[in-house]
Amino acid sequence: MNLTFIRRPSGLQFGGVDVRELADRAGRTPFFAYDRAAIDARIRELRSLLPSGMHLHYSIKANPMPALVHCLAAWVDGFDVASAQEMAVALNAGAAPADIGFAGPGKSHDDLRRAVASGVNVHVESETQLRLVTALGWELGVQPSVAIRVNPDFQVGQSGMRMGGGAAPFGVDVGQLPALLRELEAREVALAGFHIFWGSQCLHAATVIEAQRQSVELVLRLASGLTDPLRFVNLGGGFGIPYFPGETRLDVKAVCEAMHDWLPGMRAGLPGTTPILELGRYLVGEAGIYVCRVIDHKVSRGKTFVITDGGLHHHLAASGNFGQVLRRNFPVVIGNRPDGVPRERCHVVGCLCTPLDRLADDIELPEAHIGDFIVVKQSGAYGRSASPLHFLSHPEPVEMLV
Ligand SMILES: Cc1ncc(COP(=O)(O)O)c(C=O)c1O
Repeated sequence: MNLTFIRRPSGLQFGGVDVRELADRAGRTPFFAYDRAAIDARIRELRSLLPSGMHLHYSIKANPMPALVHCLAAWVDGFDVASAQEMAVALNAGAAPADIGFAGPGKSHDDLRRAVASGVNVHVESETQLRLVTALGWELGVQPSVAIRVNPDFQVGQSGMRMGGGAAPFGVDVGQLPALLRELEAREVALAGFHIFWGSQCLHAATVIEAQRQSVELVLRLASGLTDPLRFVNLGGGFGIPYFPGETRLDVKAVCEAMHDWLPGMRAGLPGTTPILELGRYLVGEAGIYVCRVIDHKVSRGKTFVITDGGLHHHLAASGNFGQVLRRNFPVVIGNRPDGVPRERCHVVGCLCTPLDRLADDIELPEAHIGDFIVVKQSGAYGRSASPLHFLSHPEPVEMLV
């Protein structure tokens, strides 16, 4: 008998699992998969570089999947939350209220009530927020834990997204702080800490180092007029990850080495105060993929379109519509045969009826067939939760931890 074996082309491995096997586990496409071992490894590596005593917080906005946050609760020292729902996810994952910071320019009365009742640290960003928090403390019979988010008086250079310096809805301008501190004193509320968030998605080590140095200088200046010690100082994060061709990885080793230089000065000026680094995408962004399926392949006026069952309603960032000035392609491969031939130049699009729904423009890939898996890498942060899931009423993507 002549048996001929046809070898299945090797597929993309993610978390040690072939992408076709992942699709079987998900039960349908599209889906997001997150690799918990990769997140663990990223955090271990970072911790080995950080000076001892530097606390690491995870910013839940990057990816609020409860199972993922549950894993992170064992690996980080606390969480940054931006809503009462994110706060509930952190508390349900077992985080202590004292290790949760609630920041955001538009906290509602209900958000604040739940935060004060739970005992999390409310990072107030205006006089209105301070008044509400103290009134809620009286009403609920608890001493609220209040920190101040400061809009710094410096602005960083090459950051992906600036979130401080200049006029901003975030935090309290340095010039307005003395009045807010007097208000705090008059209301007999202790100040737990300061929070300075200068920006995010920065790949330039010298910029991160400079922003951290300036944050520490600012905090030392602000704290010099205080009588009571601060419990913590949250120095923001800003660590970026490479998404696009030509981007170079942030030199985290250099950033951490610089911490060894400025931390002793901060400790001397603020004995007993815990420094906090808060990171979102750097911890989880590279540990996630988005997988959708090719449902059509067609040519229009000489251009090839690979049409998928996914799109911007699941992954706004990959479509280029989540704050990118110039649209560039996230890394995209055909998951079931990444090295397949022949290859073709094509446009990978989603299933929505809008020209904005693009997953990759003018990219060279193995010739796509209906049923192939399109995999978008670097999708562990700002994916599902940062997308307009209900636009055009298609099904939501599955999410799973591998
Ligand atoms: C206050 C605050 N903390 C943390 C983050 C997380 O940023 P990233 O995911 O880039 O680390 C953001 C992002 O906008 C933020 O506004």
